[in-house]
Amino acid sequence: MESDSQEKISVEDEAVDRSEFKTCKQIAFYRRQKSLCPGKPLYRVILDTVELTNTVKFQITSGDCKAPLLVEIYEIEGNIFRLKINEITPLKPRYQVPDVLIKEPASLRLTISEKNADELVLVCASEDQQLRITVDPFEIQLISNKEVVLSINSNGLLYLEQLQPPPQIRESTLQKKKDGSVDSPKENQEDLGLWEEKFGSFLDIKANGPSSIGLDFSLYGFEHIYGIPQHAETLLLKNTSDDDVYRLYNLDVFGYQTHSKMGIYGSVPLLLAHKPDRTIGLFWLNSSETLVEIGTKAALEVLPSRTPDISKQRILPQTDVRWMSESGIIDTFILMGPSPFHTFKQYAQLTGTQALPPLFSLGYHQCRWNYEDEKDVEMVDTSFDVSNIPYDVIWLDIEHTDGKRYFTWDKKKFGNPERMQKQILMKKKRKLVVILDPHIKVDPLYTIYSQAKERGYFVKDRKGDDFEGICWPGPSCYLDFTNPEVRNWYADQFAFKTYKGSSEILFAWNDMNEPSVFKGVELTMQKDAIHHGKWEHREVHNLYGFYQQMATAEGLIRRSGGLERPFVLTRSFFAGSQKYGAVWTGDNKAEWDYLKISIPMLLTISIAGISFCGADVGGFVGDPEPELLVRWYQAGAFQPFFRGHANMHTKRREPWLFGEENTRIIREAIKERYTLLPYLYSLFYRAHTAAEPVMRPMWVEFPKCLETFGIEDEYMLGNALLVYPVTEPKVTTVNVFLPDSHEIWYEFRKFRCLKGQGLLKIPVTLNSIPVFQRGGTIIPLKTSVGKSTEWMADVPYELRVALDCKASATGELYLDDGHSFQYLHEKQFLLRKFIFHENIFSSRCADENGQFRTKCVIEQILILGMKKQPSSVTASIHDGEDKAVTFTYDAKNSVLTLQQLSLNVGIDWVLHIK
Ligand code: NOJ
Repeated sequence: MESDSQEKISVEDEAVDRSEFKTCKQIAFYRRQKSLCPGKPLYRVILDTVELTNTVKFQITSGDCKAPLLVEIYEIEGNIFRLKINEITPLKPRYQVPDVLIKEPASLRLTISEKNADELVLVCASEDQQLRITVDPFEIQLISNKEVVLSINSNGLLYLEQLQPPPQIRESTLQKKKDGSVDSPKENQEDLGLWEEKFGSFLDIKANGPSSIGLDFSLYGFEHIYGIPQHAETLLLKNTSDDDVYRLYNLDVFGYQTHSKMGIYGSVPLLLAHKPDRTIGLFWLNSSETLVEIGTKAALEVLPSRTPDISKQRILPQTDVRWMSESGIIDTFILMGPSPFHTFKQYAQLTGTQALPPLFSLGYHQCRWNYEDEKDVEMVDTSFDVSNIPYDVIWLDIEHTDGKRYFTWDKKKFGNPERMQKQILMKKKRKLVVILDPHIKVDPLYTIYSQAKERGYFVKDRKGDDFEGICWPGPSCYLDFTNPEVRNWYADQFAFKTYKGSSEILFAWNDMNEPSVFKGVELTMQKDAIHHGKWEHREVHNLYGFYQQMATAEGLIRRSGGLERPFVLTRSFFAGSQKYGAVWTGDNKAEWDYLKISIPMLLTISIAGISFCGADVGGFVGDPEPELLVRWYQAGAFQPFFRGHANMHTKRREPWLFGEENTRIIREAIKERYTLLPYLYSLFYRAHTAAEPVMRPMWVEFPKCLETFGIEDEYMLGNALLVYPVTEPKVTTVNVFLPDSHEIWYEFRKFRCLKGQGLLKIPVTLNSIPVFQRGGTIIPLKTSVGKSTEWMADVPYELRVALDCKASATGELYLDDGHSFQYLHEKQFLLRKFIFHENIFSSRCADENGQFRTKCVIEQILILGMKKQPSSVTASIHDGEDKAVTFTYDAKNSVLTLQQLSLNVGIDWVLHIK
């Protein structure tokens, strides 16, 4: 087994072999859709088929001999539209993505306000919105407050290949043309890849033939487009060109190239478009291979004028977006915003919000391929304490298993995993994460294999045998996670009595779940492999990792009797993966470019609903120079998922190995992360309950400020902290953009106050990265740091109040037991709201439904931007006496510090500053 890993590594250590992966021109459905000639017959609405229930249905035809298609339009509560286009009676049912929408969205009542030979006008139940449907050619315009926000099929690129009988049958039933010839379906076969498609030595046999779909959208007034992770690309999506389109196809691309539109590990087909007065989203619900073309141009808009015959014109940007998928149906949601946060909520209404992570998982994670054995684990664990660096979780990669048989232990290296967990980690209030890949070693003596084999739980090849591919263990079969019965069985494998050597501090890491197949086509599974329900792999490819994480999370919940929140990290993901845990950006490199690109990559994943995301700190491939490692820790400390990880061929790089000075700086960065945990955890609660991303592009917080729309080297952590990771070596200054001249910003560590005034040159040293707190915000912090999050449960809080120009500020704190579902089932939580206004500072309950007992107190409050030294400060506690508060005032920095407060976080209080 070792040798298989070695073999892959030696290949991998070279740069990405681009030729292993398809370019767009090597994708047959792309070639077919691109050959759609401009003069081809366009679809038109068959008016007498219009039906109105709650939804509107009608048929469209392209006038050729193909059967008409069914169009369904829904208005969904919350300012969402859904458009479905499918065959009316397909030869076989076409795949419709299950399990991603959290429920079938209920539709509101649309009404027809006009119907004539040219158009059909639908009015919406809510808002001032209309759908104007042109009959011939078929086009839909979405109008909001008299403004055309977008149109659908205005470029006539609606495309749907109707299922046909296979060639042999077709040939016999084909009617002879007048000249006696028949259309040979084999003709152009190579080129069009209708029934077969070659790539290198691989042949994809398409049992259902061509079934591709596509549609175009024109977005008016929009030129800033975001989303559709995962690509190692800029935050702002670029215009595409032929053969360079955004690909959504989950692939294992070791050391992926930066600035590439290639598909990598995960896919979320959600695109966002933003302009100062509106954000919208397009969610393309399709799990087959998908390509997205983007073209922004200047378009002429003709404005109606009061004087007949004279019309005004103005130039507005317009972005055309074209989606193309290999199979399935057209099922698309238009999220009408109008604000970025409305759009996030609309998307979450469909696919769910971020699962609330257990608190420990927001601490620092130490990973390596591999921690060798129990002694190594103990040594690393102890060294954190000796170095006075907090951490929460140590990770075990594939070598901890018995020959890459997941759910087992290498008996020599990990002979007593219970002891390791209970005597070493649990005692230190720390956790363990182990890797569980979806491939299963072919070995009749391995219970997971033999049971799955016997029950028919593996994906099949096109002939109906178990699909076999090579991965870490050598020949392997792949669990069919699309089958609910397999997921149920897999979840049961986490039961403590079944998973020998596991304990309640063991959590999970799902890797290689694109799925990765070493000698397979594009290093993944053949599209003609067969899943549950006889669906081809091509239909479900992008969902495979999503389902493994779903089953794993369920397993962890189930083993605790439904009480404990799971933690599962996955490499492959899809829309909705946020419900099951965290994702990371896979095999990046220990190079500055990868640190830099990690920021837009994480921002893009975050705005696509998955807040819990991170990149391997230090870079996975290669050895980082110490400065890069230090900078990466400083960046990671302000990102949602914070894990150091390294490839097996790299030198050891635990934080204490780079000399005292570097260790000191890394320690500071990790400690700062731990003091920030109350803020971060509160942000995750907002992500969980209100779909607000934890890590936010600048434009999300400053939607009217044009200069922010392209910023990707700085970002907001929640609404309060502006973070600027340093991503270049040896810099002494960086250019930070502080938006909005009305905003006041405070340096996070020195409290110096700056007015928002655009691009500022900020001096930097290796000690830290620039972080600013926005005036008007209050953030909760911990006053000291322990060995891990659990050690810090009772550590007192500090509130950091940053006053705005009106000398006001607000903030929030969320608190619960940090690990169970009691916050949900028993409402055991506290949500506190802090308001500072006119020198009165109050803490009150922000959600009366929640209750949680805690000994924890607020010990200290720092008020930044306090212009005058007060003469007295008193605290009035609900049901208690007023008491004088000790304070100090730093006139130079305008900071008022209130000390020795001992205000229990759960009670209401008011402070009067006079
Ligand atoms: C690939 C993953 O991306 C990496 O993080 C892991 O260490 C290796 N597989 C080995 O499991």
